[in-house]
Amino acid sequence: MDHFIYKDGVLHAEGVAVTEIAASVGTPFYAYSQATLERHFRVFDEALAGMDHLICYAVKANSNIAVLKILGDLGAGMDVVSLGEYLRAKAAGVPGDRIVFSGIGKTRDEMRTVLQGGIRQFNVESEPELAVLNAVAMESGVVVPITLRVNPDVDAKTHAKIATGKSDNKFGIPIAQSRRVYAVAGAMDGIDVIGVDVHIGSQLTDLEPFRAAFLKVRELTEQLREDGHNIRRLDLGGGLGIPYAHSNEAPPLPMDYGQVIRETVGDMGCEIEIEPGRLVAGNAGIMVTSVIYNKAGEGRDFLIVDAAMNDLIRPAMYDAHHDIIPVIEPAVGVELNAVDIVGPVCETGDTFAKHRNMPPVADGGLVAFRSAGAYGAVMSSEYNTRPMIPEVLVSGDQFAVIRPRPSYDEMINRDKLPEWL
Ligand code: LLP
Repeated sequence: MDHFIYKDGVLHAEGVAVTEIAASVGTPFYAYSQATLERHFRVFDEALAGMDHLICYAVKANSNIAVLKILGDLGAGMDVVSLGEYLRAKAAGVPGDRIVFSGIGKTRDEMRTVLQGGIRQFNVESEPELAVLNAVAMESGVVVPITLRVNPDVDAKTHAKIATGKSDNKFGIPIAQSRRVYAVAGAMDGIDVIGVDVHIGSQLTDLEPFRAAFLKVRELTEQLREDGHNIRRLDLGGGLGIPYAHSNEAPPLPMDYGQVIRETVGDMGCEIEIEPGRLVAGNAGIMVTSVIYNKAGEGRDFLIVDAAMNDLIRPAMYDAHHDIIPVIEPAVGVELNAVDIVGPVCETGDTFAKHRNMPPVADGGLVAFRSAGAYGAVMSSEYNTRPMIPEVLVSGDQFAVIRPRPSYDEMINRDKLPEWL
């Protein structure tokens, strides 16, 4: 459930008409619903009730510090994969002991800064990283709590570009080698081995791959305890999918996902961490864009909108489906027309949807892309020298710009001419 619904014939974000935001900030823009973000966090919290747990929101999904502050204020931890994300979490007021550092390519500089600022744990992804982290920790005079991210060789049954748990993916330490690497870690003076980490992919719409992965984590945990490690925390990653086509998709509910956790590892005496990103932020955001032109082609009609692939890259990158709805509610029984919805960028990949049944939307009319709160704004760029689009937060009947649209001067003046030109 989210808070983007028609009221009096106009799409609203909570209590605010999307037309009002558009009139104030111009199009295109992202709009997020605070109530939806809060609700999604609570749903996870309830799903893990009764187990000692921390929900570490995956900052990569939507890293605006207003979003991070909303979640941090509810008690969320943060899962970060770069120093930049770490500094954002800190800027949002999240203490270091609630921030988990994941990612396969952490640099020495990142490690050093994060160790100084405070961290809950590192999720270590390789033997070379382990050696470097140990060295940096010893230089810094600290002992760093770690898990090893293991690769369980489980098929997440999701899009190939976001599956991470098969042995041919770049992520984690092959589970078959992990006991040996744990032994190496256990002997290091700068390292405190506290747990096991796994993350098998994103947008999972089936619970069975989670179950298979968590059972492997269970088996490994038992072996590691036999080997003398004090395993007390399990980080089970993120990945639970959301409905993108709202009319006909029903991915598993967080409650059922929580039940899988309870059944597989709930009795191990470990603190449970999860790292959801998409499910928290995805359906808490829309992207709103104006139709520039209705263009009739040869046997096909185009809706050319003012947002483009640089603003929302998911359709171009993953062939992702986003529901696209007019901001003015169409009359009941209005005739639909199959159109291609495209942006102004100069490549054919800048296509949001093909043959999408849409009610008529006149030039200048507004349409909203649903489920755009996760992996939307964070993946945007200035390709074609298009200013990054603003982000707006709505709460009840108020809204605020939480990242403004840069001016053309700001964008262009970042470039510097060398003195010889
Ligand atoms: N933890 C780790 C270590 C991750 O790599 C990810 C996502 C998550 C947690 C959060 O997963 P989620 O709950 O959001 O599924 N840009 C792609 C998604 C990339 C996901 C990368 N890792 C997309 O737009 O579909």
